[in-house]
Amino acid sequence: MLEEALSLLDPQPGSTIIDGTVGGGGHAQAILERNGPDGRLVGLDVDAEALEAAKNRLGHYGDRVRLFRASFREMETALQELGIDAVDGALLDLGVSSHQLNSPERGFRFGAETAELTPLDMRMDDRLPRSAADLLAQASAPDLERWFREYADLPGARRFARRVVEARRRAPLRTSADLLTLIRDSRIGGGRRHNPATLVFQALRIAVNDELEALAEGIEAAIRVLAPGGRLVVIAYHSAEDRIVKNALRDAARGRTGPVGAPEALFGRDARLRLLTRRPLRPSEDEQRDNPRARSARIRAAERLAEVA
Ligand SMILES: C[S@@+](CC[C@H](N)C(=O)[O-])C[C@H]1O[C@@H](n2cnc3c(N)ncnc32)[C@H](O)[C@@H]1O
Repeated sequence: MLEEALSLLDPQPGSTIIDGTVGGGGHAQAILERNGPDGRLVGLDVDAEALEAAKNRLGHYGDRVRLFRASFREMETALQELGIDAVDGALLDLGVSSHQLNSPERGFRFGAETAELTPLDMRMDDRLPRSAADLLAQASAPDLERWFREYADLPGARRFARRVVEARRRAPLRTSADLLTLIRDSRIGGGRRHNPATLVFQALRIAVNDELEALAEGIEAAIRVLAPGGRLVVIAYHSAEDRIVKNALRDAARGRTGPVGAPEALFGRDARLRLLTRRPLRPSEDEQRDNPRARSARIRAAERLAEVA
């Protein structure tokens, strides 16, 4: 999916690109290879460990790279600090990084083999005040229900929210093992395609990190900072994310799409984007087989239109 994302982003030599989710710097490096010899990359991440990894990987590009510990919802502030008014491309590769998943102490992974040792943390940004364990201990049943339903389409969301409230009266839910036991004992299902644990953990992770609000604000910010002709590419990994991306891009494009190169007047006075993907791009069958994490990826992209005076 890296190739698909890059060909939609289409970083030109000399261009300035913002990678709002720089992670370990894999996509950033591929961008820097294309926008050289003097193109710039601004990389953001909320995770201090990710930025450290990106710094190591991208150090040899020197001052072509600037990294910030910031949420992509604050990308305008980061760009202002650098004196950059507009960028030629913006990438958001959402969700958890492999580094985060592979660090059991961070609580993103819920494999049975490490579950006893895995705290229910799930903070991408360790400055956030509340971990997943805190939310499970403090949130009201209606809030829990809403998260399970809206963030993960969990069948039996209400029943499971009640089970959490009952269980925490007996003992706090502290580790992945505690939560996995509760999920098993509650006999909730995961729908046709999912393990219920995947859905419960997904919902909690989204709530802890305020991911969907951040996504909606991040897309708006990206649209504001893109230069005319600049491109926004978003890679989503589950339907709650993809729904937000789809609606935000569609609204900004006012539901109109057209052939590349068509006169901008066609898109109406208020349209700010032209969609480059009517349907999301999905990984090929080969890639789905080789890379299970990419299985659910969906890429959408759009191009910034010039403001019409
Ligand atoms: C799938 S990984 C990105 C991997 C990256 N493209 C690479 O090639 O290594 C997602 C990253 O986004 C970060 N992230 C999640 N929400 C964020 C936000 N609101 N602002 C900035 N970074 C965020 C996570 O900490 C994680 O490192």
